[in-house]
Amino acid sequence: MPLSKIQRQNIITEIIHQIGSPSSNGFLDIDALAAHYGVSKQSVSRILSELQAENRVIAETAGRKKKYTLPREEIERDFPAAGLSEDKVFREYISAFIASAPETPRRNFAYAFTEMLNNAAEHSESEKITVRAAKTECYIEFSIRDYGVGIFRKIAQAMNLEDDTHAFLELAKGKFTTKPQNHSGEGIFFSAKAGDIFLIRCGQIAMTVSGSTRDTGSKYLFKAMDTLEPGTFVNFRIQNDHSETLAEVFDRYAPDGNGFVKTHIPIRLLEHDHIMPIVSRSQAKRLLARVEKFQSVTLDFDGVPEIGQGFADEIFRVFHNNHPEIELIPINCTTAVSNMIRHVCPSESV
Ligand SMILES: Nc1ncnc2c1ncn2[C@@H]1O[C@H](COP(=O)(O)OP(=O)(O)O)[C@@H](O)[C@H]1O
Ligand SMILES: [Mg+2]
Repeated sequence: MPLSKIQRQNIITEIIHQIGSPSSNGFLDIDALAAHYGVSKQSVSRILSELQAENRVIAETAGRKKKYTLPREEIERDFPAAGLSEDKVFREYISAFIASAPETPRRNFAYAFTEMLNNAAEHSESEKITVRAAKTECYIEFSIRDYGVGIFRKIAQAMNLEDDTHAFLELAKGKFTTKPQNHSGEGIFFSAKAGDIFLIRCGQIAMTVSGSTRDTGSKYLFKAMDTLEPGTFVNFRIQNDHSETLAEVFDRYAPDGNGFVKTHIPIRLLEHDHIMPIVSRSQAKRLLARVEKFQSVTLDFDGVPEIGQGFADEIFRVFHNNHPEIELIPINCTTAVSNMIRHVCPSESV
């Protein structure tokens, strides 16, 4: 039986969506697609061939399998950092390029783009900034590269951190700034949550933030890179079907126009390689640095199997007694973590 027009359209939409999704590795499960839509494998393969012929999908061979990508259009230009106006660059160079994307992704993109370009201009100490934008049928993306001091280095130096990777935690908390006179430390915190993929690379390490929408909590991933590059590289991508507006993102952490009063800290970020156990008072102090700037702090124990007594005591008894006005909300606790929190602070309900 031939496919109906609607069936065909649904399959096309799904194929494009799967190839263009943030988690796509380019492989398509044709059997699963055929089973899902109740059609033959040949029908799905035929649609795929037609999409390739129309240049809506690009196929390459990866071993014995085929890998698919979407055609991308890209623009790239260097700007001198001195006197750079991020709004002007956005209006004159980017705005028309992303005009075909829907309004919510375009607005979130504009916010993150101007914040990250402003960062490169004001914090990096680089003379030149390379701006790139890309688009496909499914998403819009930008990257900003500078050749300056490097973001993790800069934060580690400013905070006297032992290790550059400890800078991840400061960025995840938010409100970190090395220029408190005219900056507030919100740019990276909110940009990382405004899209679908956010990556910062500096030196030989990269931090990726994904799945940030609503309150699922962001997933942080670390990668050690083979090559050492100067400066900072930031990559932001947002899907065309992204529905969470910037106002909704702000409302999660700055509710009712009360300012940036809430944060969400993934405890795993304390030891990004997950080898060191989370046990000590010094780890707790690192976790709690600048936390008094917030009114409510969600402590996300996702991926942390257990914690030590000293660590728990420092947070849930010592800090809590010194700052009773700050709400500490532990979430995603294993039984071992909950038991330790109750052990040091019997009134805590976790
Ligand atoms: N491209 C960069 N190069 C070096 N340091 C950076 C860069 N971008 C950001 N930073 C550091 O990260 C901090 C946090 O950035 P952000 O969240 O945008 O807040 P703000 O710009 O308000 O300080 C900055 O204060 C700066 O110390
Ligand atoms: Mg900034």
